[in-house]
Amino acid sequence: MENMFRKIVLVSLVCCCVYDFRVFSRCVNSPHFVSPWTEVEAQTQKSSVTLEHECGEFPAKVELQIRPSSGNWTNFYFPGIGSSQRDDDINRTYGGIVYKYNKDEVILFIPKAKDGYPSGTIIYTGGSSWRGPVFQNARRASVRALVWCPSDFPDPTYESNWISLSNSVSGSFLEIAHNQGTIPDLVTVQIQQSGTEWLSDGIGSMTALGPNTSSWGGVIYGYNTSHVRIWAPSSKNGKLFSADDGWGSAKESWSRGLIKIKAWRITNMFTLTYALNQNSKSQISLNTTYNQATDILIVRIKADTGYNSGFMFPASGAVQNDETVSSFGGVVYSASSDTLRIWTPVSPGPGYLLYISNEWGNTLYPQTSTTATLMVHVWKSTTCSIPTTLVPKITKTTPPVQSTADPNSSKRQSSKEDKDSLSSKAPIVVPTVIGGFGLLLLIAGLIIARVLWKRKSKNRVEEEKQEQQ
Ligand SMILES: *[C@@H]1O[C@H](CO)[C@@H](O)[C@H](O)[C@H]1NC(C)=O
Ligand SMILES: *[C@@H]1O[C@H](CO)[C@@H](O)[C@H](O)[C@H]1NC(C)=O
Ligand SMILES: *[C@@H]1O[C@H](CO)[C@@H](O)[C@H](O)[C@H]1NC(C)=O
Ligand SMILES: *[C@@H]1O[C@H](CO)[C@@H](O)[C@H](O)[C@H]1NC(C)=O
Ligand SMILES: *[C@@H]1O[C@H](CO)[C@@H](O)[C@H](O)[C@H]1NC(C)=O
Ligand SMILES: *[C@@H]1O[C@H](CO)[C@@H](O)[C@H](O)[C@H]1NC(C)=O
Repeated sequence: MENMFRKIVLVSLVCCCVYDFRVFSRCVNSPHFVSPWTEVEAQTQKSSVTLEHECGEFPAKVELQIRPSSGNWTNFYFPGIGSSQRDDDINRTYGGIVYKYNKDEVILFIPKAKDGYPSGTIIYTGGSSWRGPVFQNARRASVRALVWCPSDFPDPTYESNWISLSNSVSGSFLEIAHNQGTIPDLVTVQIQQSGTEWLSDGIGSMTALGPNTSSWGGVIYGYNTSHVRIWAPSSKNGKLFSADDGWGSAKESWSRGLIKIKAWRITNMFTLTYALNQNSKSQISLNTTYNQATDILIVRIKADTGYNSGFMFPASGAVQNDETVSSFGGVVYSASSDTLRIWTPVSPGPGYLLYISNEWGNTLYPQTSTTATLMVHVWKSTTCSIPTTLVPKITKTTPPVQSTADPNSSKRQSSKEDKDSLSSKAPIVVPTVIGGFGLLLLIAGLIIARVLWKRKSKNRVEEEKQEQQ
């Protein structure tokens, strides 16, 4: 009996750890892969770079960090972009690095003229239609990729199936319920090219549309407390992903595919919120310091007006228009370890903070925002003590068993109910502490169960004895 009891305890402990981790731990690990800094230059032969991330499965999150190779601002990193919105057809500057990825690699596409103007650079914060703390336009830059495999993230609180999306009348807009009851801390939209293993990422508000004949693309998405809205291009040349014509020799574009939505809630996070309008500051202290090699910066813009009021959209990494031929939109950002910079369209003007034109999503829910709310998250990575997938590591967490003798353990269980208020204050400690509480709870339960069982069997024996008598 003792032996069996011990086995039950051990098995339960392991199960309990896994259960605890799944349910309560919302911490984010360091990325599985951080590439070395790679020098890139626009308008050269080397118009794409391939990096091997070795997840062996589709990553949960891919981030590019792009910084000037020299000059004053090498500590400010710009993100990469999920799809180009411009080609080389007009002699106007555009910038950025576009990327796609599969289970093993990330490919970076760098501006290079194909049959038009060599006007693409890598870092570009816009011309006179844009407002920001400094002006940056750089052909040379350093870039690195950070890749989080699924096991580096907690389990998503919502994950959709693969849903088809295309540039078509009825298939270019989706509204999917995620039913979280609160705005998730992160929502990703991954777009899989039809018939391939290549993924690209959804984007926020677009920054430009060129002339009618130009190549452009992307999948815009936004989300509120219950739903995700997805707009694919629904007019002629728009693709779900484009790195074509002006992005090297690669003929990279796809107009149909499958999308997967995932939503996360996490605890190890720092938040900053402020109103965006034509007078808002373009350089802000993050009020915290983050590690750019391990942590995640998430910059989003919430629509406060219009058809998409209450929906959050991701911010962008580079301006792809200048002296535009149409209305445009977007918020571009870069960040150092403690400061955020943003570039916004000059207002009033042809530019909007959030802009969804009738070229997208079959004209459903268009958006033109001149005011909005900026929301910044810093996810501080931490070493989650109990990875879900590695059983050997789980057994390492058994030492808490020693504390079973603690008579106060039953008291501690009650503080488990405080976990929500606790999590906002001491996010990094919480997963471990809660895990510990869970263990204590389970062990206390087992002890009580054992006592009850013993008592019961004792009673039974006594009953049997009485019956015999
Ligand atoms: C660096 O900053 C200084 C002072 O703000 C300025 O004079 C100089 O032009 C800047 N250099 C570059 C390369 O931007
Ligand atoms: C493109 O525009 C730039 C700046 O306006 C100008 O200097 C250049 O000559 C133009 N290039 C061509 C090929 O027209
Ligand atoms: C683009 O095409 C639409 C009709 O498809 C037309 O109304 C619009 O004026 C065109 N825009 C430009 C810049 O040519
Ligand atoms: C979120 O969007 C859905 C779908 O459009 C809508 O029904 C719901 O009212 C929105 N929620 C809030 C709080 O605005
Ligand atoms: C950052 O902290 C300072 C001092 O505590 C405060 O005055 C400021 O409002 C904070 N900034 C933001 C954007 O929260
Ligand atoms: C149990 O809690 C009480 C009061 O909270 C404290 O005085 C006592 O030292 C604790 N006992 C142990 C064994 O931790």
